[in-house]
Amino acid sequence: ALERTFSIIKPDATRRNLTGKIIAKFEDAGLRVIASKRIHMTRAQAEGFYAVHKERPFFGELVEQMIAEPVVVQVLEGENAILKNREIMGATNPANADTGTIRKEFALSIGENSVHGSDAPETAAEEIKFFFNDDEIVG
Ligand code: CMP
Repeated sequence: ALERTFSIIKPDATRRNLTGKIIAKFEDAGLRVIASKRIHMTRAQAEGFYAVHKERPFFGELVEQMIAEPVVVQVLEGENAILKNREIMGATNPANADTGTIRKEFALSIGENSVHGSDAPETAAEEIKFFFNDDEIVG
């Protein structure tokens, strides 16, 4: 089915000028960028977006990393976009990521892993709404 998913190009990647190389991976796989903006996340945004992880031991470091430098938030659209994006990203820990994936090629560590992508249809819808108004998404 035609789906939409939410993506973040994280600070470790924007800092190393990898935005275009990462978007090329999405487009080469048939995903279309139908919304995009570069933002510097506030602490409140990062804490709210990752609220599901707030009891995890890495939460503090995760928030600090996400607000350290700008990010690029995007909506990607395509056939099976949610699963497809997860395949393009590779495993959360780059040590476990397959060859050719974004995290294998670019990620520095499990925390600085270059990209975030929604893991399911419900979270995709929530995450898109967290960062985008309807009129910012042009399919
Ligand atoms: P992301 O998809 O953005 O969702 C939560 C993030 O927490 C995850 O990617 C990782 O970058 C980060 N993180 C840091 N440490 C861990 C860990 N031990 N397990 C899972 N995620 C971690």
